[in-house]
Amino acid sequence: MNHPAFGGQVTLEAPAYIKHRRLIDWVQHVAALTKPERIVWCDGSQEEYDRLCAQMVAAGTLKKLNQALRPNSYLACSDPSDVARVEDRTFICAKHREDAGPTNNWIEPAEMRATLDGLFDGSMRGRTMYVVPFSMGPLGSPIAHIGVELTDSPYVVTNMRIMTRMGRKVYDVLGEDGEFVPCVHSVGAPLAAGQADVSWPCNPTKYIVHFPESREIWSFGSGYGGNALLGKKCFALRIASTMGRAEGWLAEHMLILGVTSPEGRKYHVAAAFPSACGKTNFAMLIPPAGMSGWSISTIGDDIAWIKPGKDGRLYAINPEAGYFGVAPGTSEKTNYNAMATLKENVIFTNVALTDDGDVWWEGMTDAPPAHLIDWQGQDWTPAIAKETGRKAAHPNARFTAPASQCPSIDVDWENPAGVAIDAFIFGGRRSTTVPLVTEARNWVEGVYMAATMGSETTAAAVGQQGVVRRDPFAMLPFCGYNMSDYFGHWLAVGDKLEALGAKLPKIFCVNWFRKGADGKFVWPGFGENMRVLRWMIGRVEARAVGVDHAFGVSPRYEDIDWQGLDFTREQFEEVISVDDAAWRKELVLHGELFETLRHRLPDALTQTKTAFEGRLRA
Ligand code: GTP
Ligand code: SPV
Ligand code: MN
Repeated sequence: MNHPAFGGQVTLEAPAYIKHRRLIDWVQHVAALTKPERIVWCDGSQEEYDRLCAQMVAAGTLKKLNQALRPNSYLACSDPSDVARVEDRTFICAKHREDAGPTNNWIEPAEMRATLDGLFDGSMRGRTMYVVPFSMGPLGSPIAHIGVELTDSPYVVTNMRIMTRMGRKVYDVLGEDGEFVPCVHSVGAPLAAGQADVSWPCNPTKYIVHFPESREIWSFGSGYGGNALLGKKCFALRIASTMGRAEGWLAEHMLILGVTSPEGRKYHVAAAFPSACGKTNFAMLIPPAGMSGWSISTIGDDIAWIKPGKDGRLYAINPEAGYFGVAPGTSEKTNYNAMATLKENVIFTNVALTDDGDVWWEGMTDAPPAHLIDWQGQDWTPAIAKETGRKAAHPNARFTAPASQCPSIDVDWENPAGVAIDAFIFGGRRSTTVPLVTEARNWVEGVYMAATMGSETTAAAVGQQGVVRRDPFAMLPFCGYNMSDYFGHWLAVGDKLEALGAKLPKIFCVNWFRKGADGKFVWPGFGENMRVLRWMIGRVEARAVGVDHAFGVSPRYEDIDWQGLDFTREQFEEVISVDDAAWRKELVLHGELFETLRHRLPDALTQTKTAFEGRLRA
């Protein structure tokens, strides 16, 4: 049956072009459980996307923005209770608790399946179940992996079309029995006959569940971001990290960029920063005027899949096709390339609406518009904001935009061979203690630095904000297995590359976020981060100079190119200094992390800690 109001194939029977019996059986099994009113087998076409958007406009989920100012773009405002990832509702249901490890929530798989069976029973009543086939990585490439998401949220379908390679072609790759990761998603808001829908259905009870052994994802109750776009954090990080461990590769919360010197030498860098700590910005950086000979190109802004090559180098690809980026703070000054990417074909979520039908968020312009409709649909003026502190955009407001629209996109961003990584960078958000940049003296010390990284929590996850927590490799919420085993895996990858006789990528640790006595960031950040990157590239080339300290090598004032920036020696001292007392406390926090992880913690890391403590005493 072809239903005119829904288009595509609206039937329990799969369209004839799907030849995969196991997939069809699974869809029908989930439909029997969730009891949707109809099934739509998505083809990924523009017509389908436009039709779903029009449907969501009619339902009040989306507002169509001013076509002249923001062509083919929409604004979604979520339920105020559903605005970010829910880490304490995220579960890794490995058979054995030890395999999820002490940093993940764990429930015994059979018990969790019983819970999910109850929650999903009839959860799609009155709604459409969409079948969304997608590829993480270029379609048909040997490094790509396929997933199929069943969802009752049209918002999820349209976002997945931007964020992944989604649509009918995926079935050609799958053939009759290709591997795919089954992903089931329900907002958990069934509709009784005649019951009116709300603009953002969701459920106060939320479960984001992963079964690593059977490589399955089940998500209930939320329609937002990483909770619902299951190709992203759930698949490309939590499930993929377990695949990578089994198969000898890495799935990381990292941007990937290309950096080209004035002489035309090109390097590739992968950098891990926790959520809302600067990956998208760093990936799209524009060097400041004084450094105009340098250029940056963007391969990815959030996730990297990294595989060792036969030559002993590490090759990285971006499994995503779009950006789900933080809106607040994004401006033509801070991230020109992101703003250019957002010109058209964008879904904005939880930003403010201007009177002429465009979008605005805190930090987009110096002066806010005189009047807005805020993300919760209320009138907003600068005076109201001053009086109440109410934000126009939610701090975790986001844009969903096609990567292909980014002016700085790298020529190799879809190269299935990936790009060879020359350096890894790990960075947290720390008002104190951690220097602007430190180079690890070797792979093991680099793994230690990444493993013990701390960062202040942000609005990207529900919970208290601005509190320092350990966030190993920026993977605390995203590692699909035991964190100690994950450290071991990184050490093993290093050993393997070394055995191949290759030069290992250098590892650096950065912090753009040290604050002065006035509570303001001392380091100007954004494009100026190019100065730090330049020093790091200089170290890769064995040209740049630095000084050894207790934890590694950092530049002196005279080792950085300051052309075009007024940044004094004293200011530099404020962001680069290593305070012994502060570091003694920091090492206590490393010790607490290691205590939590001690059961399978590699000895190399405890030995490294002892060595650092010795150097700090000396
Ligand atoms: P996720 O998408 O959550 O993984 O975040 P992300 O790591 O990509 O962070 P993003 O680049 O979106 O930046 C998050 C926030 O930090 C934004 O408000 C940025 O404006 C701000 N930010 C990014 N880079 C810098 C920097 O160098 N200095 C300062 N002070 N702020 C920055
Ligand atoms: C993050 O939180 O790191 C994000 C946003 O990139 S989400 O897709 O919601 O996980
Ligand atoms: Mn992220």
